[in-house]
Amino acid sequence: MKKIRIAVLGYGHLGKWHCQKVAANSEVAEFVAIVEKFPANQEEARKNHPNVKVVSDIKDIINEIDAAFVVTPTSTHFELVKYLLEKNKSVFCEKPLCSNDDEAAALALIANNKDAILQVGHSERFHEAWEKLRSHFQNLPTPFSVRINRSAPFKGRATDVDVVQDLAIHDLDLVLYLFKQKPLQVKANGFKIRTNKWDHANIYLNLEEKCDVTIVVGRNSVKEMRDLEVISKDGMITVDLFTNKIYEATSSKYEDGTFVKEESYAKRDHLLLEHQHFYQSISHSQPAIIGLKDGLNAVHLVDCTLKAMETLGPISVKLG
Ligand SMILES: NC(=O)c1ccc[n+]([C@@H]2O[C@H](COP(=O)([O-])OP(=O)(O)OC[C@H]3O[C@@H](n4cnc5c(N)ncnc54)[C@H](O)[C@@H]3O)[C@@H](O)[C@H]2O)c1
Repeated sequence: MKKIRIAVLGYGHLGKWHCQKVAANSEVAEFVAIVEKFPANQEEARKNHPNVKVVSDIKDIINEIDAAFVVTPTSTHFELVKYLLEKNKSVFCEKPLCSNDDEAAALALIANNKDAILQVGHSERFHEAWEKLRSHFQNLPTPFSVRINRSAPFKGRATDVDVVQDLAIHDLDLVLYLFKQKPLQVKANGFKIRTNKWDHANIYLNLEEKCDVTIVVGRNSVKEMRDLEVISKDGMITVDLFTNKIYEATSSKYEDGTFVKEESYAKRDHLLLEHQHFYQSISHSQPAIIGLKDGLNAVHLVDCTLKAMETLGPISVKLG
């Protein structure tokens, strides 16, 4: 089978890892080019991938590729994805697909008229925990409450966007993916601590059937925290995404006499799985595992959250 000719756009923190995955999938992917603007990163790219072209503009190699990974800052996604789709190239775009609802609407118009595959990098969907808990989460007695924490000490990265686009988007997407209940309304507040954008956000979603979700995200936290907790009349389940553990406390007592059951789950290479799905979709003309609609819905929830943070009032959600 003909190999898929690939470019990776952005050789920064995450772009380097995407490049490794392209190189590791050489049986299906031909690594043609790295597009990077910053000279020092170009230099590093040349050193680490001596057989790959390194250029500073996608236009220089557009006719040499079939598909591209967009791993540049979020503020650049819209223009790059739009350009690639217009040229009928398949695109894997790191989350978020774009910056706001207006850009999302423009991308939808282009993507819906193309055969090219569009996959969005909502990598948090690939935790094995979700497979273990899938049927449980989709059959929860209502009402139920969900609480999600995602915070880390300041790293100085992704400061071109608010913490909502950088971190909360993972959890806004997970809520749609895991619970199959539409959010009706968002309220939110936050703090600008180290940058002129929101560095901390408290987000409250009302779902259908009187269920609620609280998401707390921060990029100026005192410690690393990534967990999700679900509580209903059936008990509590907590997933610690940092230590890869599931804790369960139902109304029963467990075999060892305790009231809390602890289970570990395997840590997966999410990026590798994303690459494998992308190549598979292109090779077999199959829809992307996480596609346009998922990307647009996540961007809409981000947009609603940011409006709620500015106005401190409730914002209605209208998903596609
Ligand atoms: N899925 C995840 O868990 C996850 C994790 C981290 C980052 N991300 C996403 O990945 C993207 C990149 O994040 P990062 O941390 O690697 O950022 P980064 O700033 O470390 O790297 C971005 C690179 O893109 C380059 N660049 C900027 N504009 C460009 C252009 N027009 N063409 C080519 N190169 C260009 C920059 O010089 C830089 O080297 C962001 O959208 C972020 O949200 C996703």
